Amino acid sequence: MKKLLYQFDTDALPSVFDNVVGFDGGADHISAYGGVNAANVGALVDGAIFTRSPKDKKNTAIFVGGANLREGEAMLSAIRAKFFAKFRVSVMFDCNGSNTTAAAAVAWLSHGRALSGKRAVVLAGSGPVGQRAAVLLAREGAEVAITGRKRVVLEKACAAIKARFGIKVDAIEAPTHRERGAAIEGVHILLATGAAGVTLLDAKQWQENPSLEMIADANASPPAGIEGVGLADRGTSSHGKILFGALGFGALKLAVHRACIARLFEQNDLLLDTDEIYQIAKSMVGT
Ligand SMILES: NC(=O)c1ccc[n+]([C@@H]2O[C@H](COP(=O)([O-])OP(=O)(O)OC[C@H]3O[C@@H](n4cnc5c(N)ncnc54)[C@H](OP(=O)(O)O)[C@@H]3O)[C@@H](O)[C@H]2O)c1
Repeated sequence: MKKLLYQFDTDALPSVFDNVVGFDGGADHISAYGGVNAANVGALVDGAIFTRSPKDKKNTAIFVGGANLREGEAMLSAIRAKFFAKFRVSVMFDCNGSNTTAAAAVAWLSHGRALSGKRAVVLAGSGPVGQRAAVLLAREGAEVAITGRKRVVLEKACAAIKARFGIKVDAIEAPTHRERGAAIEGVHILLATGAAGVTLLDAKQWQENPSLEMIADANASPPAGIEGVGLADRGTSSHGKILFGALGFGALKLAVHRACIARLFEQNDLLLDTDEIYQIAKSMVGT
């Protein structure tokens, strides 16, 4: 029985990254669909749940991806609404790598350390990765704020986090380096999740900040999201801070993503979303 993965993407062109990791995680065949949303996913789900016998359904699974986190969440709800009794398959949710990337970053930041009571800021935290990272930092007990260029965008993101996870995250409008520097005053943990190739902070701004203890940058495309943080940094000490670069924690992200795909094919009723993926990351970090 072949392990079939159905990759449903909110973007017109389904992600090649998710496709490759799907195979590396153990799928025998992947059908990748673009432009999938809550309104049109129903018939695709029917095809996945009505085809194989109950004992064989674990060999069919669904992956939800794409850049639009809100559309992805709505699609996930629509998929789950189609399931009933034994007519269900396992699903992984990872729009734009949001869950796996955030899980890997926060698993490293919290590895062997307590984050409770710490102040954390996620720079450019309005995107998929930043929103999920804010949730996980808060789950670890940190007081979290996200920054972005426009208050209205940030407030939408914070409201979505509150609605989905019941977690309060503060919004700090900070469109310039100077304002982002002010946003990290008195902060202990800094995570940058800005768009690829966008620099959000100069090296001096973190190097001369006395409160910062740990810094991570998710951006793997040069130039760095935080100047002076090396791509391969993984617990590197510099200026009294501990640094993690995009590739430094990205290895865990990839390993977690592959492990999640493998788990999808172990049972037919697994849901791998933010908290489940984070638990998997925590069990793998540092191993
Ligand atoms: N290390 C890894 O393993 C890994 C894996 C996946 C993704 N990533 C990286 O993680 C980062 C976050 O991913 P994502 O999908 O959440 O990113 P995204 O949605 O593309 O961008 C995140 C935020 O960046 C801000 N932004 C965009 N252009 C900007 C500009 N010119 N100046 C300042 N801010 C700007 C936007 O916030 P506002 O509009 O609110 O300002 C946006 O919401 C990306 O760099 C991605 O490549 C890393």
